[in-house]
Amino acid sequence: MKIKFNTIVIQEASSTNLFMQEWKKAGKLKNGDVLRAVNQNNGIGQHGNFWESEAGKNLTFSLFLETHFIPASDVFLLNKIISVALYDYLKSSGLPQVTIKWPNDLFVGDKKIAGMLTHNSFLGDKLENSIIGIGMNINQMEFITDAPNPISMKQITGIDYDLEKELDSILNYIEKELEQFNYYNRKQLNAKYLRFLYGFGESRQFKDSEGSFIGVIKSVDSFGRLLIKKEKGLQSVYDIKEIQFL
Ligand code: BTN
Repeated sequence: MKIKFNTIVIQEASSTNLFMQEWKKAGKLKNGDVLRAVNQNNGIGQHGNFWESEAGKNLTFSLFLETHFIPASDVFLLNKIISVALYDYLKSSGLPQVTIKWPNDLFVGDKKIAGMLTHNSFLGDKLENSIIGIGMNINQMEFITDAPNPISMKQITGIDYDLEKELDSILNYIEKELEQFNYYNRKQLNAKYLRFLYGFGESRQFKDSEGSFIGVIKSVDSFGRLLIKKEKGLQSVYDIKEIQFL
């Protein structure tokens, strides 16, 4: 899909995802619109958690994409496209040990540097459009909430980044990944996603409703479920809230 992003910057929003949803209801959004808030004061994370971001220090933005090229049965493809683009961006910035942490995060080592929150609308058996909210920790030096293991680019490299330039660069990577994507060749994307996936193919400890166990991540299916081969037992399929990494 060829896309040209159009960025709108506002000084303050409670949440750019909520703001975009309002604009969508009012029929004000076009494919490729990007909304960035310099200060997002009530950011929403996964499971309704608070997304911490110090005013003017990080990137908190949402993208609006028309996504009818994705069948509803392949809903997680968009997450994979964006995750791979964010991975490429972080690698190109020279960060070490970058991985995609299933289902919505980017990690550096064992720390979280970015998170994603997506709202999808469906039309029949296809996606219709998606609002993809991205929080990327860039210049923040101290995190004060109980966010699990946060880290910023500046904490790693010591560089004070120009947020506008970084946003342009992230959008370029997303543009490139969307343009390269071809539904009939999605195996390539899957292979890339798995190659960059945190813990892929390693024996690790997990916890599900029956307790902790050792297993190996085998894949992530088209609905975004994690496939784990248990050391003792068969392969199990987990939805987002059904499994924890220990
Ligand atoms: C997570 O918990 O990992 C997801 C974090 C998503 C945060 C971003 S910041 C921009 C957009 N607006 C929000 O309110 N949340 C997302």
